[in-house]
Amino acid sequence: MAGAHHGLGMLLALLLPAAPTSLTGTTIRINSAALSYVSDVGKAPLQQALKVMVPPFLDQSGDVHLPIRIQILDVHVPHLDLKFIAGFGIHLMATANFTIKVFCIPEALELMMPVALTADARVAQGPIRTPVVSISSCSSNFSPASVLGDNNSTSPELLILVQKHIRAILSNKLCLYISNLVQGLNVHLGTLIGLSPVGPESQIRYSMVGEPIITGEYIALDVNADLFLLGQPITLTLDATPFVLPWPVGTRGTMATMGLSQQLFDCILLLLQKAGALNLDVTGELNSDDNPLNTSAMGQLIPEVTRQFPKPMPIVLKVHLGATPVVTFHTNNATLRLQPFVEVLAASSNSAFQSLFSLEVEVNLSLQLSVSKVKLRGTTSVLGDIRLAVAASNVGFIDVEQVHALVGTLFKKPLLAHLNALLGMGIALPSVVNLNYINPEVFVYEGYVVVSSGLFYQR
Ligand SMILES: *[C@@H]1O[C@H](CO)[C@@H](O)[C@H](O)[C@H]1NC(C)=O
Ligand SMILES: *[C@@H]1O[C@H](CO)[C@@H](O)[C@H](O)[C@H]1NC(C)=O
Ligand SMILES: *[C@@H]1O[C@H](CO)[C@@H](O)[C@H](O)[C@H]1NC(C)=O
Ligand SMILES: *[C@@H]1O[C@H](CO)[C@@H](O)[C@H](O)[C@H]1NC(C)=O
Ligand SMILES: *[C@@H]1O[C@H](CO)[C@@H](O)[C@H](O)[C@H]1NC(C)=O
Ligand SMILES: *[C@@H]1O[C@H](CO)[C@@H](O)[C@H](O)[C@H]1NC(C)=O
Repeated sequence: MAGAHHGLGMLLALLLPAAPTSLTGTTIRINSAALSYVSDVGKAPLQQALKVMVPPFLDQSGDVHLPIRIQILDVHVPHLDLKFIAGFGIHLMATANFTIKVFCIPEALELMMPVALTADARVAQGPIRTPVVSISSCSSNFSPASVLGDNNSTSPELLILVQKHIRAILSNKLCLYISNLVQGLNVHLGTLIGLSPVGPESQIRYSMVGEPIITGEYIALDVNADLFLLGQPITLTLDATPFVLPWPVGTRGTMATMGLSQQLFDCILLLLQKAGALNLDVTGELNSDDNPLNTSAMGQLIPEVTRQFPKPMPIVLKVHLGATPVVTFHTNNATLRLQPFVEVLAASSNSAFQSLFSLEVEVNLSLQLSVSKVKLRGTTSVLGDIRLAVAASNVGFIDVEQVHALVGTLFKKPLLAHLNALLGMGIALPSVVNLNYINPEVFVYEGYVVVSSGLFYQR
């Protein structure tokens, strides 16, 4: 089983394109509240994992050696406690009650055998840069069994031998089965490096950048976001200052705290810009009252437009983001600054487009961030005024003040709709399959964003 998982890891590593070396400063802190949650949801899989097969007991005391069949009917785990071991990993303490049926002759009997399990698990960075948990020590401590019900007709000598047999089998197998359970968990944790779409043709993948930091209160993973455009990794030149997430930060007592540095946002915006996802066309329609994007309306402001287009023609605004948007985080305040280049074109009679003029635009947006499921979503609204400057003109002199009202308003609504649709799809946050963030809260600090959240594992 362990071999198969190793093989899967190798396969994943081979399939993944080489990772760029840029660091995007993201820290995930799993707090002790998360361990309590894992203790709760982990009881059922642990119970399942401990359903060991016990071979028959060969009673060699009498003259006739009859095998006595033994079956584990049920395993109940009333306690599972996990706690951090600073600089190492996680300590596990569990009690399991085994209900065991012994098919003695003439009558079968049921035993209840409580077992205390303890294990230390190291948490480290694995070969494919995902967290790997491994059991470093494990022991089981058996308490004497008690006979359930009143079928206590079996000889005490035989009962002692049967118990010895069961203990010998269980003490060999329980730790092995716990290791297998942890191997399954590792495969699950390996899904951290799954690719998630960011926008059209672009993807993000998170992976660990080093060994986890483990204290008595949390385990912190520094992760890097690798970004891909059309399947190719994009390399970014970033400020090399390492991102350090303060402690404590965010909501106290939550299961997970994630620190997302400014660099991560810069990278995502750069990716969206390179992918062309931020560009848009605003198209005018003729005979539309609420859309004055036509040459006759434009001609009122710029007479040369009417001269070139005596017949009304629709106008198109081609919004192109040449420069990467800049996001700025101040306490409780996230802003996004866009500097789009807007080309104003008119449809000419032969259905081609002719450039009228172009504008350099600057607009500040306020950015509201929220988290749903495992995605960070954004909504924007315009902050202050839109600044316009004429970059080039094929229609002579342009009074910026005059076109401001027309172009500014026409461009604002579609731009916001476009950005909000794109940012509303959300950027995948680091996660593993079937794990969702619940009741998340987003905090904006000087230069970084913090997401405090509960975790919910969907089976
Ligand atoms: C399991 O064993 C413990 C210790 O003997 C005992 O206190 C507890 O009641 C048992 N639980 C069940 C469900 O039998
Ligand atoms: C106890 O013995 C009776 C009679 O032999 C049998 O029917 C019953 O299944 C036994 N109970 C258990 C728990 O083994
Ligand atoms: C069976 O019953 C006897 C006498 O009542 C008692 O001494 C013994 O401990 C019991 N065995 C078990 C395993 O409960
Ligand atoms: C051009 O836009 C104006 C202002 O919205 C509108 O009144 C007019 O009908 C439009 N002209 C045509 C031909 O669509
Ligand atoms: C947020 O920052 C922007 C730009 O610096 C500023 O205009 C705005 O007033 C700030 N808002 C708050 C609530 O501080
Ligand atoms: C946008 O914000 C920046 C920084 O606060 C400021 O320098 C710039 O003038 C603003 N631009 C517009 C168009 O409001």
